Amino acid sequence: MSALEIRKGIYWVGGIDWNIRNFHGYSTQNGTTYNAYLVVDEKTVLIDTVKQNVTRQLISNIKQVIDPSKIDYVLSNHVEMDHSGAIPEILQYCPNATVLTSKAGEKGLRRHYKNDWNFRVVKTGDTVSTGSRTLSFITTPMVHWPDSMVTYVPEEKILFSNDAFGQHLATSERYDDEIGWSCIRKDAAKYYANIVTPFGRQAEKALNTLAEYPVEMICPSHGIVWRSYIPDILREYGKWATYETENRAVIVYDSMWNSTEKLAFQLEEGLVRSGIRCSLRNLKFTHISDVMTDLLDSRLVLLGSPTLNNGMLPTMGEFVTYLKGLKPKNRIGFAFGSYGWGGQAVRELEKVFEELDWQVPLKGTSIEYVPDESELDSAVNTGKELGDLLK
Ligand code: FEO
Repeated sequence: MSALEIRKGIYWVGGIDWNIRNFHGYSTQNGTTYNAYLVVDEKTVLIDTVKQNVTRQLISNIKQVIDPSKIDYVLSNHVEMDHSGAIPEILQYCPNATVLTSKAGEKGLRRHYKNDWNFRVVKTGDTVSTGSRTLSFITTPMVHWPDSMVTYVPEEKILFSNDAFGQHLATSERYDDEIGWSCIRKDAAKYYANIVTPFGRQAEKALNTLAEYPVEMICPSHGIVWRSYIPDILREYGKWATYETENRAVIVYDSMWNSTEKLAFQLEEGLVRSGIRCSLRNLKFTHISDVMTDLLDSRLVLLGSPTLNNGMLPTMGEFVTYLKGLKPKNRIGFAFGSYGWGGQAVRELEKVFEELDWQVPLKGTSIEYVPDESELDSAVNTGKELGDLLK
């Protein structure tokens, strides 16, 4: 992928990671991009870099536009290594460049790279002129790390948003309208669900601040550039940041001898009969990061596991560990599962709901060994009852 001029004198110069399939535990079936942008003005600014493995792409793209030794500023909106990994190599071309970053950014970059670069710390309200344009900085702590910030260029009405509004998607298309809203919304939702969910309050605060800035283009550090669906993605972020959900359900389960699976199917039947849309996710076949995408929009979350060795199945244990870390709020929980003699799994799942502060309107279903016809009918009724609660 070559450098692409996205606005006169402003270029996408990032790297595409077509083959990555796991991004710190997040399944990236479609790869990802690490977006870097070059502003060529009286001063030249490189906005963020890339993960170390695609540094050659970054340097090649920069060289298509300018000699990298001409870079005056390397702007680091976020320390995480998928954006800062190429800074050491870039600074070999332009050792006198100033590294613009937040206070926490300087600390993080020093810890990561053990280098005494020419840092200049910026904060919300600070600006740097590039000649005909202004870089205006807005710190957005915890979206995604304490150091995170975004950069706004008022003359162009462009927001360089780093992780915010990103999507893990490797593509040669660079703009949202080249993909289409329904497809790109899915990737943005999965990204939010797995990266930003724990920081809803901070994301809401950042959205409120950013509402003061007119924006014609949002350039995130992953995926496509937003230019046609900006109101749509801002609306979705507003919903996600406030944990707004839809009247839909997700059933997440694993099964040992199919008893818990039978219950899952019956519960789904009941939910559908009550008019509630539902996704059924067996943890043997669905990655936990994809389950989180379903969960992002679902008010009702049903978790099912048989009891194994006095607890839940390890697959469910992994999922609930991940879930508790991401801490989605405002959900209704329901637990179910089969057991032989202990039955602890359902109780453990209900403890998870308690820790997450979710509502639990119905006591969980626990079935000894294999459900009979009457227990299967009862599970359908439970599904229907849960569905009716959503209306
Ligand atoms: Fe894309 Fe928090 O790094």
